[in-house]
Amino acid sequence: MTTAPAKTILRALAGETLPTPPIWMMRQAGRYLPEYRAKRAEAGDFLSLCYNPDLAAEVTLQPIRRFGFDGAILFADILLVPQALGSDVWFVTGEGPRLSTITSPAGVAALKPADAVHDTLSPIYETIRILRRELPEQTTLIGFAGAPWTVATYMVAGRGTPDQGPAHAFKDADRAAFTALIDRIGDATIEYLSAQIEAGAEVVKLFDSWAGSLKGQDFDDFALAPTAKIIAALKARHPAIPIIAFPREAGPRYVGFARATGADCVALDQSVDAGWAAANVQRDGCVQGNLAPQHMVTGGQALVDEMRRIVAAFSGGPHIFNLGHGITPDANPDNVALMVETVRAGR
Ligand code: CP3
Repeated sequence: MTTAPAKTILRALAGETLPTPPIWMMRQAGRYLPEYRAKRAEAGDFLSLCYNPDLAAEVTLQPIRRFGFDGAILFADILLVPQALGSDVWFVTGEGPRLSTITSPAGVAALKPADAVHDTLSPIYETIRILRRELPEQTTLIGFAGAPWTVATYMVAGRGTPDQGPAHAFKDADRAAFTALIDRIGDATIEYLSAQIEAGAEVVKLFDSWAGSLKGQDFDDFALAPTAKIIAALKARHPAIPIIAFPREAGPRYVGFARATGADCVALDQSVDAGWAAANVQRDGCVQGNLAPQHMVTGGQALVDEMRRIVAAFSGGPHIFNLGHGITPDANPDNVALMVETVRAGR
């Protein structure tokens, strides 16, 4: 006999349909919070904040104290893995990330081996250990990494791109070298997420923010297969760990994604209809997401109405309430409080 885990997010991820969905929020720690901006200033810059375990734990805890989410996502960034593999990474204020670029087989071959990532990433494991001591006992700690395709789009282009053009060009010019890059990132991600789990992460999430630009065989080879490989390796080492996959803007390819990859939950962006996703995606297990982040800017009755629609659509199966993508810096924290209140009104 085993007893069901008590934490609501873990129960939903195990397939339980709860009377009201648990809630957490993508980009919970961010510039929309004045207390985050103060800690970032104290750290000096964004990457220094990521690598300072005390400050990174503090900015993870801030939104939990303010809003009492059921889950807390580790404060870090998907671009720490390229840095650990040997890429130069820096952030330009007001513009976003910049990296050294990889556009040749030699660039791929020069990356460090997967097990070297711990040299750079060990402060992140310390952040996790602090958080497991400091988080309220009902709050689930979520670790994360970028999925290989999304990470590769930054490593090839050296920055964010509207259409991931440089990564597509590399893939189309030299599929073998590009596949080698995806494999190198995947192997590093397995090491990184395993270490996060060993440090105390209770769930891990793979962000494939640019999955929507992969079509047909490319989606199979560079979104689905690398995710499946990472999940299989993590489940072999840590059979009990639930995994959330986020193939953002996958559209029709959300269907069957959990079955094909072994993910316990699929995160949905706001471009898919909740009723469609309930019938076609949630039938395979837990789903999360779907609320447009813009509602955190605009709030009001439109937010409440849209939330009720999403909660009703997913009420027949396991569901975790969340946004369809990260909250934006111009959001109003009062709207976040209203979102938490609204989802819990049924409790
Ligand atoms: O959600 C959380 O609170 C946990 C921490 C987290 C961050 N980034 C902190 C962050 C997580 C889970 C991420 C994931 C991430 N990072 C993704 C995947 C999710 C998504 O949004 O699609 C991507 C693509 C990145 C890469 C990245 N990091 C970009 C493109 C940017 C610049 C855009 C921006 O908002 O400025 C970042 C910076 C970043 N990562 C910030 C935060 C809080 C803002 C940095 C700052 O304080 O100026």
